[in-house]
Amino acid sequence: MTSTDASTKTSLTGIKPTDTPHLGNYLGAIRPALQLAKSFKSFYFIADYHAVTTLRDPIALQKNVYDVAATWLACGLDPKEIVFFRQSDVLEVFELAWILSCLVATGQLERGHAYKDAIAKGVEHPNAGIFYYPVLMAADILLYDTHVVPVGKDQKQHIEVCRDLAARFNHVYGEGVLVVPEAHISEDAPLVPGLDGEKMSKSRGNSIPLFASSKELRKVVMKITTGSETLEEPKVAEGTTIYELTKQLTPSIAAEMAKKLAAGNYGWGHAKQDFFEALDAELGPKREVYESFRADEEALDRILAEGAERARHVARATMHRVREAIGIARPIGTMRSTVSLKRSDLPV
Ligand code: ADP
Ligand code: TRP
Repeated sequence: MTSTDASTKTSLTGIKPTDTPHLGNYLGAIRPALQLAKSFKSFYFIADYHAVTTLRDPIALQKNVYDVAATWLACGLDPKEIVFFRQSDVLEVFELAWILSCLVATGQLERGHAYKDAIAKGVEHPNAGIFYYPVLMAADILLYDTHVVPVGKDQKQHIEVCRDLAARFNHVYGEGVLVVPEAHISEDAPLVPGLDGEKMSKSRGNSIPLFASSKELRKVVMKITTGSETLEEPKVAEGTTIYELTKQLTPSIAAEMAKKLAAGNYGWGHAKQDFFEALDAELGPKREVYESFRADEEALDRILAEGAERARHVARATMHRVREAIGIARPIGTMRSTVSLKRSDLPV
């Protein structure tokens, strides 16, 4: 695909606000998605209704939405370029999700990862939101005429369900009504390791926070597990957590680190200090922007509301085509309610 093709195509991704983002999210999702947005018309949204499948704490949900919004903006998301919004602000998504659910076999949803995982974890009857999750996700994608969906490997199956649904819809109701999207998965993208060398994940308690103060960040970096060789001994960088983290952050600094480790007289403490300095240089300026956005929730609400307005514009056009295709649309002029209610008629 040439860059001219790409710029006329739409890339879309959803960010589930279940936690405050960490370095793994930044290197594995945020930075690559912002890179991709340079060559696509992009819709990036906060998937708050997906979060309620597991998160039942309203205060935490609200906080996470603002944390996520401020994080993406601080990492360089320009809301004039990228349509950035809350999923819950465009209600058309539920209408499309319902229509799609009438085209999906329950068997396909029973094979869904999230649903199967919940069962494997011993939840006898996972909530229906978990079961239905891929349908809402398909609606998220199809509502905005998406061509590519940048996601992690774990989301591959969901994109497959979405593609199936789009193709089925078009087959039943008319070719070309919905755009059939493609996943954009960097198969070879390595997982970012956490402090203990396992996959960095909030739930494992091994993550590096994105916007802690310099002092706190240094303290966390010093906890990274390393070998126990003496300062003088030459060391092998490849495969160590500190080297892998540095390589994913800034490859040129990692190359230097590998040389210094191999030469000896360079300890793991030095490597951690070099990684910390590179990390602080990358995150420091973003931290300031994050803090100023995070301190102004009204500004975040405004940015997200403006994004929602632009998103709604596309969503309405899609729903118009979809309703017409399935035989729900009525001729213009008869769409309004035939009953005219006065305020005083409404129940109190
Ligand atoms: P977590 O695993 O901490 O719960 P999420 O599942 O919410 O994080 O992930 C959000 C996004 O960040 C996904 O696109 C996922 O692929 C990416 N991501 C999360 N952790 C890592 C990691 N350790 N390495 C690379 N990418 C990651
Ligand atoms: N399911 C995705 C996740 O867990 C979040 C998501 C919701 C999404 N809707 C989406 C991702 C649409 C891409 C496209 O990370």
